[in-house]
Amino acid sequence: MLKIVRWGILGLGNIAQKFADDLKLVPDCKLEAVASSNSARARNFADTYKVNRFYDNYHDLFKDPKVDIIYIASLNNNHYEHSIQAIKNNKAVLCEKPLAINKSQVEDLLQLSNKKRVFLMEALWTRFNPVFDQLLTWISEGQIGKIKCIYASFSFNGTKRPNDSRLFNLEKGGGSLLDIGIYPLFLSYQLLGYPSTIISNAIKSDTGVDNQMAIILRYKDSQALLYSSFLHNEDMSAKICGEKGEIYVDSRWHESKTITLSNNYKTRKKFEFLGKGYVYEIMESNKCLREKTIESSKWSHKNSLDLVKLMDTIRSQNDIIYPNE
Ligand SMILES: NC(=O)c1ccc[n+]([C@@H]2O[C@H](COP(=O)([O-])OP(=O)(O)OC[C@H]3O[C@@H](n4cnc5c(N)ncnc54)[C@H](OP(=O)(O)O)[C@@H]3O)[C@@H](O)[C@H]2O)c1
Repeated sequence: MLKIVRWGILGLGNIAQKFADDLKLVPDCKLEAVASSNSARARNFADTYKVNRFYDNYHDLFKDPKVDIIYIASLNNNHYEHSIQAIKNNKAVLCEKPLAINKSQVEDLLQLSNKKRVFLMEALWTRFNPVFDQLLTWISEGQIGKIKCIYASFSFNGTKRPNDSRLFNLEKGGGSLLDIGIYPLFLSYQLLGYPSTIISNAIKSDTGVDNQMAIILRYKDSQALLYSSFLHNEDMSAKICGEKGEIYVDSRWHESKTITLSNNYKTRKKFEFLGKGYVYEIMESNKCLREKTIESSKWSHKNSLDLVKLMDTIRSQNDIIYPNE
């Protein structure tokens, strides 16, 4: 059994720093090596986080025999290639969301993970947070009865970002759907499953990405109203409304520490979060590696495949095509 799980990080940008901060809080694992395409960035990162080895290329990280699992923190359009290379080199993978930009890429990744018997998981960190477990518990206990409607959104004002920001760049796999709309979609999928009907409408930028996306998912007896935008701020709470009551996940719902059940009474629960919230996906990955499973039961390969199928459908409804698809 792996006593200490040895992590590597590929791509040393914004999210890699937050992840490395949280990794320090998880017992029985360590940050063993990091890799960036930029040697100064690799050196600085290694100095800051006291990492044993740093590389100015990704190849050396894939070949490092002392690394068990690689956290892929590159841009959306590179997740596929980087995850493929890691798995080919028998490295387990925790890859940032979206796992890849389309269904065909995700299918390839799942096939390879299965063939090589190497762990692969999409870093949908919200799934592993304590508040989300509480939400699932209340729903399975029947506290709100059958779900009739879900309201969830994710938006922020990204209009001051530089023109070459990954958010607005089609080549980098930009757009609000893949970047942040994936969270409300995930919520609805997790609670209600795959919908029978998908309706969506995008407001696109001059660069061809969706700046704003509105989605209605129809299930047999219920609906989800979902939304994402780069154009404005808002209070990001999520509401799950059932026949017998409601559950409110406080702002910002995808990283919330508080959740309220309203049926006959109001019950508010507050959770003390470790770190910024990435701790829980790290713990889940460590657990899976120790158990030698190639996927998590909490966010499985099929779950990632279904999520990308939903996003493919929504993109096709709005003529959003990434280069070289
Ligand atoms: N879970 C979350 O809460 C969360 C939050 C934000 C983002 N994300 C996800 O994390 C990923 C990275 O986002 P980020 O905000 O960290 O991005 P970022 O800081 O802009 O860039 C991350 C890394 O991508 C590589 N990169 C940047 N520009 C590139 C280019 N033009 N060509 C090739 N590689 C380039 C660089 O890797 P090198 O260091 O190797 O050069 C960079 O360090 C995205 O997939 C995003 O969806 C997740």
